[in-house]
Amino acid sequence: MLFKKKKEEVRSIDPSNLPRHIGVIMDGNGRWAKNRHLPRSAGHKAGADTFEKIVKYCDKIGIKAITAYAFSTENWNRPKAEVDNLMELLYNYLQMAEEKFAGTNIILRVIGDRSALSEKINKAIDHAIEITNGNTGIILNMALNYGGQDEIVRAARIAAEAVKNGEMTPEEITKEFLDKNMYTGDNPPVDLIIRPSGELRLSNFLLWQSAYAELWYSDINWPDFSEKDMERAIIDYQKRNRRFGKV
Ligand code: FPP
Repeated sequence: MLFKKKKEEVRSIDPSNLPRHIGVIMDGNGRWAKNRHLPRSAGHKAGADTFEKIVKYCDKIGIKAITAYAFSTENWNRPKAEVDNLMELLYNYLQMAEEKFAGTNIILRVIGDRSALSEKINKAIDHAIEITNGNTGIILNMALNYGGQDEIVRAARIAAEAVKNGEMTPEEITKEFLDKNMYTGDNPPVDLIIRPSGELRLSNFLLWQSAYAELWYSDINWPDFSEKDMERAIIDYQKRNRRFGKV
């Protein structure tokens, strides 16, 4: 009897078809900790370690930009102790920028409304950004006090101000203009958004940029997310037929 040969499963990344820009919603830290009878802070710490590992991996394989959702505009509504803990974790990470970015080619940026962050954190952000200034590798956007809706409002206000000052006409407010005025304006387009931990929503992340991004979900909690999972996500992405509204 003749058997049709099963299509061979693709097992490695095609370097000629990489997502240019990946967004990650680092979700599931709390559940990861709960499953281990640990405090939520242990989940966030483990999530921060995963973040570092995944960013380095993405740089290594040639991804041009990665945006990581570290703290949303809505996360202020969490208990104060958890907010303080997340801020401390971020501060410690930024404080160790010399060590964290040594030997890497990562370009650090922070996207979101920095005005609500403490002076201490803002100083640490400036210092860490300065350290990675001369780098030429992956752009790492840390989304801090970031909300996609806020980002769109901000771009709309930039346009409104420019019209008010007679610098442009309302007709000149185009998709391209707004796109340039998103925090990610000079980044390559977001091709892939990853959300682990089984939730199926965007949660105010990269709303403008996700118009034609491919979405990839998984049940794995973020602290358990490995390089292999990132590889899987990219291989799946490479199988997608991206039509951008065409047939
Ligand atoms: C959502 O998981 C995660 C966050 C709100 C915080 C994400 C932050 C990190 C991974 C740490 C970032 C720090 C650095 C230094 C980059 P959750 O807590 O809502 O998880 P749950 O839904 O399981 O409770």
